[in-house]
Amino acid sequence: MDITIEPLTPAIGALVSGVDLAEPIDAATRATIEAALLDRQVLLLRDQTLTEQQQRDFAAGFGPLHIHPIYPRSSQVPEIMLLDTALNDLRDNALWHSDVSFLETPSLGAVLLARKIPELGGDTLWASATAAYDALPETLKVYLATLRATHDLAKSFPAERFEAAELEAAKRNNPPVVHPVIRTHPVTGKKAIFVSEGFTTGIVGMEPTLAEPLLAMLYAHVTRPKFTMRWKWRVGDVAIWDNRVTQHYATYDYGNAHRVMNRATIMGDKPF
Ligand code: OGA
Ligand code: MN
Repeated sequence: MDITIEPLTPAIGALVSGVDLAEPIDAATRATIEAALLDRQVLLLRDQTLTEQQQRDFAAGFGPLHIHPIYPRSSQVPEIMLLDTALNDLRDNALWHSDVSFLETPSLGAVLLARKIPELGGDTLWASATAAYDALPETLKVYLATLRATHDLAKSFPAERFEAAELEAAKRNNPPVVHPVIRTHPVTGKKAIFVSEGFTTGIVGMEPTLAEPLLAMLYAHVTRPKFTMRWKWRVGDVAIWDNRVTQHYATYDYGNAHRVMNRATIMGDKPF
C-alpha cells in the first residue's frame, strides 16, 4: 500500500493514510512514519482496529514504554493506559500540557487510540512548541535559554480527584524536577519551549511574582491558534505525537457523555 502524508496546518500535524497499524510494520514503513513524525510532530491515522497488544507492540517500536504512576491501566496489557470517563475525572487533560514532564526523563511520545467518542465534543488540540519558539524575538530566545523551570506532578493531579494514598505515593515517588525552559530536540536539533500549564510550577531562582507572569506569557504564546491543530475524533482514530516538542489539550465540553481513549506512552531522554 502507498503511504500518503497530508499536512493538516502549516505549523503542525499530518493525516497519514495507507498504513494498517495492526499488521507488523516493515522497516521502510516505520522509517516513513518516524520521518513524518519528526517533521509534522503529530500524526493522525483513521480507521484502525487495534487490540491492546497490537497498540503496545506498535508503540514499543519507538522505544521502551512507560507505565503511568496514577492513571488506570489495562489488566491484560499494563503498558496501555486507560483514559475512560467512567473510571476517572479527565478534566486533568483539559489543560495544555506535555505528558509526564514531572519525570526526569519525560516521554518521547505517545500512541493514542480512540475507543469511544461523544457524539459531539471531546476534540484534542496540539501545539507546536518549535513553531512557537521560532517566532520569539532573538533577544528573548537568548534570555530564555538561561532559565530552568520546575515541573511537579502534584499540579495536574489534584487531591479531590484521586484516591489519597495512591496520590501520596505517586507524589513521594515523583518529587518535583527541573528542566530547561528551552529544550533541544535530540534528533532534529530544533529548539522548543518546554514549559506548560499542566506541570510547570516555577522558574529556578526567580520569585513567583516575576516567574508567574513570564510563564503565563509563554503558555499563551505556545498555544496561539497559528501554532496549533484541532482534531475531531472518530472511533478507530490513532494519534501519534512527539511529546518533546508539542503540547496538547483534551477539550472537556461533553458533559456526562462516555469517552474512552487508550494510550501507550514511550519513554524519552533527559531534556537538554
Ligand atoms: C493524553 C491526553 C488526550 C485525549 O492522552 O495524554 O492528554 O484526547 N489526552 O484524551
Ligand atoms: Mn496528555
